Amino acid sequence: MVTQASPLAERGRDSTLEPVIEARRLTKRYGARVAVDDLSFEVRPGEVFGLLGPNGAGKTTTVLMLLGLTEPTSGEARVVGVDPMRDPLEVKRHVGYMPDTVGFYDGLSARENLAYTARLNRIPRAEAAERISDLLAQVGLAEVAAQKVDTFSRGMRQRLGVADALLKDPSVLILDEPTASLDPEGVVELLALIERIALERRIAVLLSSHLLDQVQAICQRVGIFYRGRLIAEGSVRDLASEGSRTQDVVEVGAQASDGHPAGVDLLTAALRGTPGVASVAPDPDAPGRVLVTGAPGIAGALTSALAATGLHPVHLRTHEERLDAIYARLVHAAAEAPAAAPEGRTVSLAPAPRRSIRRAPGRAGHRRPERSDQDGGNADRSNRDGGDHDRGDGHDHRDDDAGGPR
Ligand SMILES: Nc1ncnc2c1ncn2[C@@H]1O[C@H](COP(=O)(O)OP(=O)(O)OP(=O)(O)O)[C@@H](O)[C@H]1O
Ligand SMILES: [Mg+2]
Repeated sequence: MVTQASPLAERGRDSTLEPVIEARRLTKRYGARVAVDDLSFEVRPGEVFGLLGPNGAGKTTTVLMLLGLTEPTSGEARVVGVDPMRDPLEVKRHVGYMPDTVGFYDGLSARENLAYTARLNRIPRAEAAERISDLLAQVGLAEVAAQKVDTFSRGMRQRLGVADALLKDPSVLILDEPTASLDPEGVVELLALIERIALERRIAVLLSSHLLDQVQAICQRVGIFYRGRLIAEGSVRDLASEGSRTQDVVEVGAQASDGHPAGVDLLTAALRGTPGVASVAPDPDAPGRVLVTGAPGIAGALTSALAATGLHPVHLRTHEERLDAIYARLVHAAAEAPAAAPEGRTVSLAPAPRRSIRRAPGRAGHRRPERSDQDGGNADRSNRDGGDHDRGDGHDHRDDDAGGPR
């Protein structure tokens, strides 16, 4: 997929704002298995950060640590300045969370499901009604607000999940694999929605995905995660330029001296023998142009070669390395040298700001009927695993959420 950097993605980070998500040397072990290994990163208001990695990389474990649903073996997290293990309810108050599997009451309408969440978050009825209408419109579900959720497509459910996560007007949004199993159109739609929300509400968004080229367009920064380790972190552009790019692919179009398009044969003859050129082939997407593969920086030599044969370049564009290739290159490098994490790539965090934290009074969460009694209310909609988020160490179940559906 070819994705263009959006205006949001191009906007610089506002480093004057305090980070609202901070992970500092977070580590989680399950017995001998290290699920998350010395992870540090930060996300600031208005920023969309993509936590990217293949299955089993440790993305969900990281999210659960940030929510206070599983305890780090070592290291620290701060979300809106609060330690999620010490005060998960305070974190929950400020964080909208969409788990990897969003659960709704299928027999209730979209509006009724949101009303249910609003009640559990103690949002006054009148205010809730207004907010729900606004949110349903914002996520494009106003027309189907009264429709039962069991008639919804996967994309509609995901959008309802975003509305649900936004209901409490959070300052942080954490979305675990929000685009999983959506069709390409659904992906674009959902990402556009997330981007707009981050921009308009100036909230920090952390989203996890295993598809770099899918989500990069809306992420100012991404962290690439492999076997629990952050192997690279930065803007996609930074990552593309990091390390050795092995080849460039250049689109070339030219005119002959009579002003007519040079055509594939002339271009091929002019460019084929140029030092550094590995191959010249017709561009399948642009008749009359060729794609030249060659050494990094080959474009300059191509211009000279064209000039030498009396051709005038009218189109010369070097493809950025494809994102899936960046990802494969970084993961491959990490797999080759598992002990040697690339240096200087992970962010170093300033000490977390300490804020006075009010103890949360009573319950602030809810749970879905499919969840077990021990489940933490922070994973509100999760069908993840019947409630035990921390199968390894028994430090879960911290939410004081007592109720089932009413
Ligand atoms: N409760 C648990 N007990 C033991 N091992 C666990 C537990 N939870 C996760 N793991 C292991 O930790 C590693 C990271 O899992 P995690 O679910 O965080 O990965 P992920 O990046 O979210 O993967 P996916 O893309 O499949 O969702 C995996 O090897 C997984 O088997
Ligand atoms: Mg996961």
